[in-house]
Amino acid sequence: MPRYTVTSALPYANGPIHFGHVAGAYLPADLYVRTLRMLGEEVAFICGTDEYGVAITLGAEQAGVPYEEYVAGWHDTIRGTFEALSIEFDIWSGTSRCAEHTETAQEFFRALDKAGYLARREEEQLYCATDDMFLADRYIGGTCYECGHTGAGGDECPSCGTWIAPLRLEDPICKICGGTPEKRPTTHWYLDLPKLRDEHIGEWIAKHEWKPNVSAFIKNLLKDVPQRAITRDMKWGVPLPPEYADQGGEGKVLYVWFDAPIAYVSFTKELCAQRGDPDGWERWWKGDDVRLVHFLGKDNIPFHCMVFPSMLHGTQQGYTLPWQVPANEFYNLEGGKFSTSEGRILDTTDLFERYESDALRFYIITTLPETADAEFSLQGFVTANNAHLAGNIGNLVTRVLKFIAKNYEGRVPDLSEEHRAEMDREILEGCGSFGDPALHAQAFQFRRAAEQLIANASVANVFMQRMEPWALRKTDPGRAASSLNTLCEWLLWLARWMAPFMPGKAQELWEMLGQPGRVVDQHWPGSPEASTWRQLENGAALGTPAALFPRLDDPSQEPA
Ligand code: MF3
Ligand code: ZN
Repeated sequence: MPRYTVTSALPYANGPIHFGHVAGAYLPADLYVRTLRMLGEEVAFICGTDEYGVAITLGAEQAGVPYEEYVAGWHDTIRGTFEALSIEFDIWSGTSRCAEHTETAQEFFRALDKAGYLARREEEQLYCATDDMFLADRYIGGTCYECGHTGAGGDECPSCGTWIAPLRLEDPICKICGGTPEKRPTTHWYLDLPKLRDEHIGEWIAKHEWKPNVSAFIKNLLKDVPQRAITRDMKWGVPLPPEYADQGGEGKVLYVWFDAPIAYVSFTKELCAQRGDPDGWERWWKGDDVRLVHFLGKDNIPFHCMVFPSMLHGTQQGYTLPWQVPANEFYNLEGGKFSTSEGRILDTTDLFERYESDALRFYIITTLPETADAEFSLQGFVTANNAHLAGNIGNLVTRVLKFIAKNYEGRVPDLSEEHRAEMDREILEGCGSFGDPALHAQAFQFRRAAEQLIANASVANVFMQRMEPWALRKTDPGRAASSLNTLCEWLLWLARWMAPFMPGKAQELWEMLGQPGRVVDQHWPGSPEASTWRQLENGAALGTPAALFPRLDDPSQEPA
């Protein structure tokens, strides 16, 4: 049986995550993992914060706090968002806090070097004598050599858009002290991606079956593959293995994009250590039965489809290459990009206070940017909530269970043998088509899975409208009870179908149906079949019915 190692792209500990991230890499992964678990599959769900790199040191310096404290703050904030949305990883670690990470990243470096996939070169870089350090691109300013703009950065010129080679800047300055940096030689290590491509990865990428939007993206990836520098002159990061000190590795760290994906492995080690099985991590990373699945937004495709697989392969240590990279397109906010820096954000704290997170989860799933960019709209959310959740599922639950509470003492009404065949036929054949949402979720079609769930609920609504048990109760009590019994039975399926999408709401429904334990621990029900689909006993006690999904007010009608 396969074993699933599922990762979500590590968020930078450099700011809050917004719904664009949630829809890209986290919520679909959580839905996928929850579905697999109910199907009885073995899964490890791995994530944590990406805590190194210049963007983070700059952020911490601007905030005036030590790096550790800065990343710890964002680590906790981001965890809060995940908790609010019931996104539950097996391990939520971070690259600077994971005890296993330094050694694991260093081991990758060593192994790649030993196998001949690293190149070492000396080249000149800008060095600030005052601050006693080589300057990362973002710490450099100067005059653009293309357009003469005086406010160019070491990475890009904001005036003409040129991608800046820092050594060519005129009048370069150190952004830390304002002084003039000098050119000094420094040694760096490069990952030999062209060699890895030619030996194996190029062929592997070409043959692998990717999601269609991913295929389109990686077609051109292989043409111009440069060697990439994987070391940096800075202090905040994973230091090079100590034995490289006398080859020029002293005081250098691994580039953040090199250490970050390795953290998937490090975090798995941490997880296994927590479980008292420190050597168990290999089961999740090596061998033919591992299915490695990386969830991410499309900007991370090159790294996960080429660079990281190259690293995994290049160690020659038997790592499994990715099985699927279900990358998503971008998720925007009503007509524009979500952007923390431009203030185009939804106040998620406010949103979580006003709306239930399961309802938000469901709406985001129904609008995921699976094949094209998509957007979150508050109006869309309210409309969808009222139609699908309140109108379809919620209405069904309330009408059935309140009616039973009132007229049948809150017990499962009797299914009589006389009516069983008619009821089965009616709901399984006569009220519309239903199917197994998991089939779509397993194929990474989460929107279709959500549509399937709604269609399944509609079947019961049609059944209820046809049977009209409230009218039937007076004319044919046996049929009325049998139809209500049938509806309870369908609600039980609905609770399990709902669980990966809306775990909290599914549990509420589960308890209203008088069921013990946690619905998420149930086996996935699949799709009902005539002879085996019923499990309720006549007269079994139900729980207390309550409104599952309230109708929401139109946000455009509200006072600001
Ligand atoms: N922190 C990166 C981003 O948000 C993603 C890193 S994914 C990893 O774009 F694989 F490198 F970990
Ligand atoms: Zn300086």
